[in-house]
Amino acid sequence: MTAPTILTVRAPAKINLGLEILRRRPDGYHDLNTIFAPLTLHDTLTFSLRSDAQFTLQITGNDTLSAGDDNLCLKAARLLCQTIGLQMPGIDIHLTKRIPTGGGLGGGSADAAAVLVGASQLWGQQVPADTLHQIGLILGSDVPFFLQGGVAHAAGRGEKLTPYSIILPWSVLLVNPGVHVATPWAFRAVNRIMERDATDLIGLLQNGLTNPTILRDRMLNDFEEVVMLEYPVIRQIKKRLYNAGAVFALMSGSGATLFALFATDEDAITASRQFPAYWTVVTRFHSAGVEIENLKSKNQ
Ligand code: C5P
Repeated sequence: MTAPTILTVRAPAKINLGLEILRRRPDGYHDLNTIFAPLTLHDTLTFSLRSDAQFTLQITGNDTLSAGDDNLCLKAARLLCQTIGLQMPGIDIHLTKRIPTGGGLGGGSADAAAVLVGASQLWGQQVPADTLHQIGLILGSDVPFFLQGGVAHAAGRGEKLTPYSIILPWSVLLVNPGVHVATPWAFRAVNRIMERDATDLIGLLQNGLTNPTILRDRMLNDFEEVVMLEYPVIRQIKKRLYNAGAVFALMSGSGATLFALFATDEDAITASRQFPAYWTVVTRFHSAGVEIENLKSKNQ
């Protein structure tokens, strides 16, 4: 494999079509029952090889995200390098951030997955998918999903993935009023003491395609109530999304971004105008996880 010297990777956002926290596990994590669906909304990462062994990170589009050693992108690059067990050349990473952080859209995990894929390519290393999955899981519970891509049912911490082939026909409006939720706080707030039964989320989604009332009545996110209690504005936005004609609306992940499904892009764009003070994006479902967009060698 000829290694490129500059590489661009797309890191998509995801939403959770239903999310149940089934039980607390002895290792401190929780077993989940959820469906991950990738979106066309994405961050873009560009990688270029250095002549020394340093890793650097530059971020545009987000002033609050730290580009320091604790950034998941740098952690991913170092962990991959250690796992390969060879001294690899350093990499300059440029991250263009469009996915809000701490919003339940998986942006940090998608970026980490993009680094694993991008750095292996740039180094000309064929790292087995299993190894990437294991490294991904050390970095975050959602990372394996972004390596795999496509709509998937997830169990365990979120890493036991079953791909699910379905065309989701809706336009997706995302709304976040600037509320950022720390995932560990959200799990503590739910305080799952009693084990919960898993709903057949795939069955709900399948039936919801022809009868969306099923989604509205039965598809839940266990984080929603605790986040709405702490941030009542999230409950108000959900109501307003339904008043604006949403087919279905729910909070994604541990929040606080709400997603609303609409029949057409026009409907979603019209509804988005009701939230001029908030972060909104109209996007679509996407069929892949992290994807290499462009490779160039220096003499091209
Ligand atoms: O794996 P990730 O870094 O995304 O998890 C952040 C935190 O969320 C964990 O430290 C844990 O407190 C909680 N978590 C959990 N069960 C999961 C995923 C995350 O309790 N399945």
